[in-house]
Amino acid sequence: MNKAESFPAARSARAPLPPGPKGNPILGVMADFNRDTLGFIERCRDYGDVVRMRFLYLTVYFIYNPDHIEYILSTNARNFIKSRSLRSPFFQRLVGNGLLTSEGEEWKRQRRLAQPAFHRQRISSYGDVMVRYTQRLTSGWTRNEVRDIHRDMMRLTLEIVVKTLFNADISGEADKVGRVLSQMVKPFASQATLKWILDNRLPTPAHRRFNRAAREIDEIVYRIITERRSSGSDEGDLLSMLLAAQDEDGSQMTDHQLRDEVMTLFLAGHETTALTLSWAWYLIARNPEVERKFHAELDEVLDGRSPTVADMSRLKYTEMIAKESMRLYPPAYGVGRETIQEFELGGYRVPARSQLFMFQWVTQRDSRFFGEPERFYPERWTQDFTDRLPKYAYFPFGGGPRACIGDYFAMMEIVLLLATIGQRFRLSLLPDHPVSLMPAMSLRPANGIKVVVEDR
Ligand code: HEM
Repeated sequence: MNKAESFPAARSARAPLPPGPKGNPILGVMADFNRDTLGFIERCRDYGDVVRMRFLYLTVYFIYNPDHIEYILSTNARNFIKSRSLRSPFFQRLVGNGLLTSEGEEWKRQRRLAQPAFHRQRISSYGDVMVRYTQRLTSGWTRNEVRDIHRDMMRLTLEIVVKTLFNADISGEADKVGRVLSQMVKPFASQATLKWILDNRLPTPAHRRFNRAAREIDEIVYRIITERRSSGSDEGDLLSMLLAAQDEDGSQMTDHQLRDEVMTLFLAGHETTALTLSWAWYLIARNPEVERKFHAELDEVLDGRSPTVADMSRLKYTEMIAKESMRLYPPAYGVGRETIQEFELGGYRVPARSQLFMFQWVTQRDSRFFGEPERFYPERWTQDFTDRLPKYAYFPFGGGPRACIGDYFAMMEIVLLLATIGQRFRLSLLPDHPVSLMPAMSLRPANGIKVVVEDR
């Protein structure tokens, strides 16, 4: 046996590196990526399913084939950790070492602890809060009023996640929390890639604003934790579970760890859902035929009464709207991993420490899997279509062991909120208000989505 055959890594070293754009001698492709992120990740697919490039000194791969995505996220997930972008000081200050960012045994323990709060049965008990809070919001709406529906959805989903998972009502502070959170995620909206790579700690005004916002949000989070600790009550929610878990094994969760967990769920648990809802309203408003069918389903299933979890199974078309909105405008438009050990993918070599990115934005609009990919067509989501679709051609919630823990929570929330609002109101787009995409940490509307509220 020659030496190369006895070492799998050496064998894969014989595989060639994949093609890809070269970019600038120093920056690599960073400027192209920052200039037009969505266009750039779309154009790179022309090189093939596995594409290699350089961002400054980092080797980056873009992966476009659903089977390869499945291999990385699911089948061979052990060979990967989260990408470097999640380890930047900004991200660390934001969510620290919570469920989204931790690795190995620590992540396993956190996931085990949080899982019961996301069991279907428990989630179903949150439906009532979702509908009630939505009605509370819309009770203040007046006919012909212009609203930024993105802002409304952000506020509403934040209130819902805080109430359901932490049994705290922040309605008095929701605007403040929303403002502070959006301040905190700002660094990710500008020059995102530079930030990933340079790990910049300079005390610029933007950094100072970020740190101030971080302190403000910490105050609120620590207050929720302290209040619960001192009350000693078991509310049966996620926070109680996390607090109780401290006593079970010797290694108690510190307030700092709890803070990271709470912040993670604050963030991961509201913005993505708010974005799906915002884009859904935008798409519904632009497609009168979809709107007509949506309203017809609500009238037939609900017959004027408030929606409940029990209606979910009959709100099929509304669910299709949710799925199709997440296909065209996936809030998480890309997921990233870092390779631990060199491996081979599609006949190409992928060295250790390469950063791998998979883009819902591109794969979910790939004409190999979706007919008329740019069309908003909820009807495509039949059971038969779903069965035939390669599993990772559509992955708004990621997949494998690190898949979204809140997928069912989110789907329920999206369907119930669409139903509660759509049952009473029609939202039409404000003419002359351009809606444009801002691919920051998530896929946001750059200047909100302005709608005119009409009674139905
Ligand atoms: C439409 C709504 C949502 C979308 C599109 C979404 C998307 C995602 C994606 C793509 C991931 C995987 C990231 C990766 O693989 O690197 C993820 C993870 C996660 N999501 Fe969601 N999410 C949504 C709603 C929620 C909600 C409602 C919650 C909680 C209430 C939540 C909590 C989390 C957490 C904690 C993780 C990390 C899980 C782990 O690593 O164990 N998400 N989400």
